[in-house]
Amino acid sequence: MSDNTQPASRQAHYNSQGLGPGERGNFAGSSGLLFEQAMAQTRMAVCLTDPSQKDDPIVFCNEAFEKLTGYTLGEIIGRNCRFLQGPLTNQDEVGRIRTALREESVAVVELLNYRKDGSTFWNALHLGPIYDEDGSLKYFFGSQWDVSDVYAARAEERHAKEMAREVSHRLKNVFAVIGGIVNITGRAMNAREVSNRINDRVQALGRSYEPTLDEAFLGTIEVGQAVRAVLRPYDPEGDRIAFIGNGVRTEPNAISAIGLALHELATNASKYGALTSDAGRVEVSWRHEHDRHGRGSLVILWKESGGPPVAGPPGAGGTGFKIADALLSHSHGGLDRQWEPDGLRAEIRFPLTH
Ligand code: FNR
Repeated sequence: MSDNTQPASRQAHYNSQGLGPGERGNFAGSSGLLFEQAMAQTRMAVCLTDPSQKDDPIVFCNEAFEKLTGYTLGEIIGRNCRFLQGPLTNQDEVGRIRTALREESVAVVELLNYRKDGSTFWNALHLGPIYDEDGSLKYFFGSQWDVSDVYAARAEERHAKEMAREVSHRLKNVFAVIGGIVNITGRAMNAREVSNRINDRVQALGRSYEPTLDEAFLGTIEVGQAVRAVLRPYDPEGDRIAFIGNGVRTEPNAISAIGLALHELATNASKYGALTSDAGRVEVSWRHEHDRHGRGSLVILWKESGGPPVAGPPGAGGTGFKIADALLSHSHGGLDRQWEPDGLRAEIRFPLTH
């Protein structure tokens, strides 16, 4: 990573009269003592190099620099900062530093550095030129911050994401294979209608997981993503089903039961309910609810309107609802349906364990 910008001004940062040799390095300038005192107090490692000398040696560093690198002041002063580099230091980043120094611009790079004891740390290095009052280059200023923790966290997250992608890929495969088996078996046994129905359910289950797997490593999944994915085929134009819910997240094990229940409600609506007519609409909303004992549930409401007159529950005892019921009650949840005059209302309830 690098960020090169020209310094805002070439104005001198220190005026150059009267700075005696500092305690911690051999550099000159009148506000040097103030600078040294300030630098002694910061936990950020800081150094100054002198580009007028051969190989741009370090002429000042603070205690934090010694602490970070494990070298003593005597071992640091007079050396070029590259002594912190080693075999695994990214040469692209070193190249960026070279360019920035040549162009006298500010650079921010992250590179692997080595301590005296050979251990490594990720160094977020910021460097830039410092000019005297005549505008001529006096020093380069460098600040070093150990960002190894950030790197470790990023690496862990990357790994988790890769795993999630792999699992997602495999699961999609598994659903595709199951679909194939069901189809072939149904055809061979002259039970195509049954196999189609089974397959619809299997694929609905697959869809409900599909968008959530990439972030399953977070431990929770976004309800809205799963709900939309399951219902996508029932509203290809996207104008029949309204989704109302914010970014409510829930535990991944809620998804199978909820996915299947929504699939059955949508199939039912396409056969008998609101989705049979152009004017029919469905509203799906979701939220978390807590009872007075603090126990939480995910509640999904299904509300049909504008469909044909509701005469009763023709699909009420369908196999699909039995499966959804069974799955939900296994988790102490439930699916409650009511046939209101203007359309079916359903409430899917799934208790949360966390
Ligand atoms: C550096 N350099 C540097 N390099 C590094 O690996 N860790 C560091 O903390 C620093 N800090 C630092 C501070 C300041 C003020 C300057 C000017 C430079 C970079 C290093 O000294 C050298 O410039 C680069 O390695 C590129 O030059 P070479 O090695 O290709 O000659």
